[in-house]
Amino acid sequence: MGSKRASRSRSWSARQNRDPYVKKARESDYRSRAAFKLQQLDEKERLIRAGMSVVDLGAAPGSWSQYAAAKVGPTGVVVAVDRLDMGDIPGVAGIKGDFLDDAVVGRIDQALAGRPADLVISDLAPNLTGVSSVDQTAMEVLVLAAMRFGLRHLGQKGVFVAKFFEGEQADSLRQRVEKAFAVVRVRKPDASRAKSTEAYLVARQPLGGEDVCVS
Ligand SMILES: C[S@@+](CC[C@H](N)C(=O)[O-])C[C@H]1O[C@@H](n2cnc3c(N)ncnc32)[C@H](O)[C@@H]1O
Repeated sequence: MGSKRASRSRSWSARQNRDPYVKKARESDYRSRAAFKLQQLDEKERLIRAGMSVVDLGAAPGSWSQYAAAKVGPTGVVVAVDRLDMGDIPGVAGIKGDFLDDAVVGRIDQALAGRPADLVISDLAPNLTGVSSVDQTAMEVLVLAAMRFGLRHLGQKGVFVAKFFEGEQADSLRQRVEKAFAVVRVRKPDASRAKSTEAYLVARQPLGGEDVCVS
């Protein structure tokens, strides 16, 4: 390993060892520390209740789905979708594929068995380039596609939650989400690293179909 790579890897390990959420995730058997972001969003926004149907877009390695499955319980449904392999998660219908692919959407519909989704959560992330404007645009494309999916699948009281990147393009993204949902809030859970520009949109009360939103 080159010395720069070795030093990057050492500082990554040091950061992981210092991070209380990494430790908590290990203790709680969560597959990643990201579980605590959803937990904190849930505590603030009361997102998940027993019996709900939840679609988790960009779910791998699976900690959001683990958290959601425990909260919806045996009468609920959690459908987890990712391009990457996730392995089985008890109580979760895992689907490997790109949620932009119609065949994958068909498999999600099957897993929902005709139920509208109560909650669509998206922790989707693009492959990052390190160029902020490029990464923001890639993220915006994912958020809008996830929102389009949400508007097709959510019931009238459905809620859409999506990660986005704060930055120059964030206001216009938020405005587009506000055209599609009556109530939109931005949350930055404590478990989301302060240095990261990520934050989450929580959008409620879909305003009537996918046509409202995305051109
Ligand atoms: C930050 S990770 C999600 C972490 C997850 N919430 C957890 O708690 O374990 C983002 C995921 O989005 C997935 N992803 C990005 N674009 C996707 C797409 N078009 N279809 C399906 N998954 C996608 C990536 O493969 C990656 O696993």
